[in-house]
Amino acid sequence: MATPTLDVLYSRQQIQQRVRELGAQMTQDFHGQPLVLLGVLKGACIFLSDLARNIPLDCSFDFLSVSSYGDSTHSTGEVRLIKDVDCSLEDRNVVLVEDILDTGLTLTYLKKMMQAHRPRTLKIVTLLDKPSRRVHPIAADYVGFTIPDHFVVGYGMDHAELYRNLPDICIMKSADQSRRKAPSR
Ligand code: IMP
Ligand code: MG
Repeated sequence: MATPTLDVLYSRQQIQQRVRELGAQMTQDFHGQPLVLLGVLKGACIFLSDLARNIPLDCSFDFLSVSSYGDSTHSTGEVRLIKDVDCSLEDRNVVLVEDILDTGLTLTYLKKMMQAHRPRTLKIVTLLDKPSRRVHPIAADYVGFTIPDHFVVGYGMDHAELYRNLPDICIMKSADQSRRKAPSR
């Protein structure tokens, strides 16, 4: 692949500001109750780490991992759970933490799977939302930024496992952008 162009969409300062706001809102909404932050690997790990430090409540962490089926151009619309939770979610306040809500396939599947664990409450926080790409009708309870249909990398998000460590969220443009490739998590 030719070297891609990376244009900053949200700077590290803008991200930190928004993550602080999300943390404050969630702290207020949960009224001093403990939370389980349930991160979707791998993309959400940096967001979860920063978000957690802005929620001064008793927070535990757990992680899920999923893969989607399909070849490089077509997703079959199936998701498979690769790693389930380690802790019990029963009667707990659970927040699914995701990097991007795109077609909605992943979170629709995970929400259903996690509801089977009978949490007291189940909420969704996503750093980015691309509503124009939605195929499955699902909304997040908390959204960092709503964006148009760009392919973005950085702050945990990848292209072919690269760029997760960029501190800013960047729009990736290249001749072979592989827009339709099933992205890794
Ligand atoms: P879904 O289409 O809502 O199931 O989104 C699935 C996953 O695709 C997200 O959690 C991301 O990991 C990944 N994804 C979607 N859009 C992008 C993007 O622009 N950059 C990097 N990963 C993405
Ligand atoms: Mg993800």
